[in-house]
Amino acid sequence: MALEPDTGVNFLTTALASSPTQAEAALRPQSFSDFTGQAKTIERLQVMVGAAKHRGEALNHILLSGPPGLGKTTLAFILGHELGKAVRVTSGPVIEKAADLAGLLTNLEEGDILFIDEIHRIPKTVEEYLYSAMEDFKLDIMIDQGPNARSVRLTIPRFTLVGATTRSGLLTAPLRSRFTLQTRLDYYDTPTLCGIVRRSCGLLNVEIDTLGEQEIAARSRGTPRIVNNLIHFVRDFAQQRGTGKITQKIASAALALLEIDAAGLDEMDKRVLRVIAENYKGGPVGMSTIAVAVGEEAETLEEVHEPFLIQEGYIQRTPQGRVITERGYGAIGLKASSGS
Ligand SMILES: Nc1ncnc2c1ncn2[C@@H]1O[C@H](COP(=O)(O)OP(=O)(O)OP(=O)(O)O)[C@@H](O)[C@H]1O
Ligand SMILES: [Mg+2]
Repeated sequence: MALEPDTGVNFLTTALASSPTQAEAALRPQSFSDFTGQAKTIERLQVMVGAAKHRGEALNHILLSGPPGLGKTTLAFILGHELGKAVRVTSGPVIEKAADLAGLLTNLEEGDILFIDEIHRIPKTVEEYLYSAMEDFKLDIMIDQGPNARSVRLTIPRFTLVGATTRSGLLTAPLRSRFTLQTRLDYYDTPTLCGIVRRSCGLLNVEIDTLGEQEIAARSRGTPRIVNNLIHFVRDFAQQRGTGKITQKIASAALALLEIDAAGLDEMDKRVLRVIAENYKGGPVGMSTIAVAVGEEAETLEEVHEPFLIQEGYIQRTPQGRVITERGYGAIGLKASSGS
């Protein structure tokens, strides 16, 4: 299959893979009341926050998992805001040695939140220190080497670890079991996304009608970060090609320019489907093989594209590899029988 460079291809992927921009931070909900959707997770968190405040204790450790852009980082900040505590942010791969962890932990105040993003990427040697820190609020570290080597026990303030991961399956069982609450964020439904479109447009002072909201929500792959990214582009489009107001016509033309189809699939999603259908007779085929064929990292496909394709029933995961479904054939304009 021809793999000509194509500017539209990576719009969603880059939107999801890049770190939060200032524009994104401005649209981030600050409190539970500002945050819509994820009802089960929110209720669980509210119970825990209420109880921690009532007892005047630190919140128990929490693991947030789910695909990119659904609100994990947002929720960590909301927890800090609701508790009136500071949130320190770091990420798994940045904590290289036990000393890095010790530095972070000893700088916390009682009840503060340490937010570790991409916690599945924390080095194994550091992870073991995290166990006693989470459980006993103690850290045994070795100082000096050779005959002078000795272990020092540091007492650290009672803190709350909030871990975020897009790949909860990669977390070790001992680490996972130290989180009191493990909660998974799901893709948002269209009505909830419509509300998020309305909220963001309000904050950005962009005029939009109900059908325009619908159009953006339906093409956002259940993901608030994509909603916000699309709004920025559609706003530019509306100003350049229209009156500035977002209508269904404007939204639909803008999204066609980005090659995002009516169901929110982008060119990369379709390449994946086409590779399975056309090169591998519908599958099963392994993700690393697909990755080479479409020219994208297997990890990105697994984190960004695959969860949505599976959730929406375009592909299925079997022990032998990925298999395309009837709906998947439909999305690329083929019939199931013509490919298998
Ligand atoms: N429930 C929501 N309501 C409104 N906006 C939301 C909601 N959830 C997320 N957002 C918006 O989406 C953006 C992305 O969310 P966030 O950064 O929390 O995702 P994430 O799960 O941490 O993603 P990643 O795995 O890539 O780090 C936020 O800046 C925020 O503006
Ligand atoms: Mg995040």
